[in-house]
Amino acid sequence: RTTPADALVIFGVTGDLAHKMIFPALYAMAKRGVLNVLVVGVAGSKWSLAQLRKQATDSIKKAGKIDDRAAFDHLLSLLRYVGGDYNDLGTFKALKQALGDARCPAHYLAIPPALFATVIKGLGASGLADQARVIVEKPFGRDLASARELNRIALSVFAEDAIFRIDHYLGKEAIMNILYFRFANSFLEPIWNRNHVASVQITLAEDFGVKGRGAFYESAGCLRDVIQNHLFQIVALLAMEPPAYQGYGAVHSEKAKVFQAMRPLQPDDVVRGQYAGYRKEPGVAKGSDVETFCAVRLYIDSWRWAGVPWYLRSGKCLAATAVEVLVELKPPPQRLFDDSAPLAGRANYLRFRLSPNAAVALAARVKRAGNEFVGDQRELYLLDEQLGEETPYERLLGDAMAGDGALFTREDAVEAAWAVVDPVLETHHRAQPYKPGSWGPKQADALIAADGSWHNPVPG
Ligand code: BG6
Repeated sequence: RTTPADALVIFGVTGDLAHKMIFPALYAMAKRGVLNVLVVGVAGSKWSLAQLRKQATDSIKKAGKIDDRAAFDHLLSLLRYVGGDYNDLGTFKALKQALGDARCPAHYLAIPPALFATVIKGLGASGLADQARVIVEKPFGRDLASARELNRIALSVFAEDAIFRIDHYLGKEAIMNILYFRFANSFLEPIWNRNHVASVQITLAEDFGVKGRGAFYESAGCLRDVIQNHLFQIVALLAMEPPAYQGYGAVHSEKAKVFQAMRPLQPDDVVRGQYAGYRKEPGVAKGSDVETFCAVRLYIDSWRWAGVPWYLRSGKCLAATAVEVLVELKPPPQRLFDDSAPLAGRANYLRFRLSPNAAVALAARVKRAGNEFVGDQRELYLLDEQLGEETPYERLLGDAMAGDGALFTREDAVEAAWAVVDPVLETHHRAQPYKPGSWGPKQADALIAADGSWHNPVPG
């Protein structure tokens, strides 16, 4: 699908996602001169256009400042508003009218997942899905069965290449760099396999709690919220075979194969934790067992990765806010020098810092000057940068409107990823308490002990 969308429809325009992410992204697009179509907001509330404009203004001001008056006025002039119940076909008729001459709209479902089916069916029944595309926010299902059902509904109205499932991690610069770095270089390939890689660790740490999203979090938990999607996407980019070409189909197919080769998790592969104080957050049940921390040991049963453990962990209220990957290489076959005791297992690794800044560092030991054969571990930085201004949403929204699905997730991949976590969604050990500001429960250290210890990223 290469026809650019000629209108953007935002369902749930009065909501949180629109306020936090979408309006600032639209403003950034307007500043770059790439937003020139009607933006029609739809929501249940009976708002006026003036109210929507005020909401957009507040949202943009909250995200930064209005530093380009012409772009800002241009964005406001593109806005339209349609209020009405999603169950009422009249709402979709009114939307059709508001769209005027637009024939290929992009419908962004910035609404709770419980409403996806209703809106998709409404779009189908009113003819608003013809030539159109749909952008769907995560969570895409809450287990394998619901993801399949959602795919079935979406595919009954839209073609797969007209469905843009967002995982905002795919729109991040440092994550796109994993794909580039792996396949734009040749030195990596000989070592990028079970013969040389000892283990891989990925940490997505946040030093804040659920930030008022307690009710949402109660229905999700860390495994569903970030591991099945954001962290699995990072694994797929690190583990995939080289694609035949750089384009939509090839990259998606290789990523899907990684998810298909992941061994389904068992309860002993998962450590769940809950920070002290979580149960007092608004919207959280007093006896809640929902995990705000999760550590997982994962195997990819493929020719390349057989036997290599992948350790993933994420948590709220941890000691730092950072996302980092550590690909640890096997130690030298013999220990000739007596100096590397504490780091024996970690002589060489490749470290990808993904957030809040971007870095790629290669670690090696080098001899310290002097008569003795002792050395230090050094990191050679191949990349060390603050991230640019473009936000993932700006990039992803632009791609979806242009019809480029490379940075979105495909049906088979989403389902295969759910199949990996499905066995432990309901059957698992209890969440272990941990102190805010720590690195999670000690059981997580035991999970990784056979292969070393967790590498704790430094705060950004
Ligand atoms: C979201 C989760 O998808 O990702 C949040 O719902 C999490 O709980 C967030 O905080 C992390 O994204 P980022 O871009 O802030 O690292």
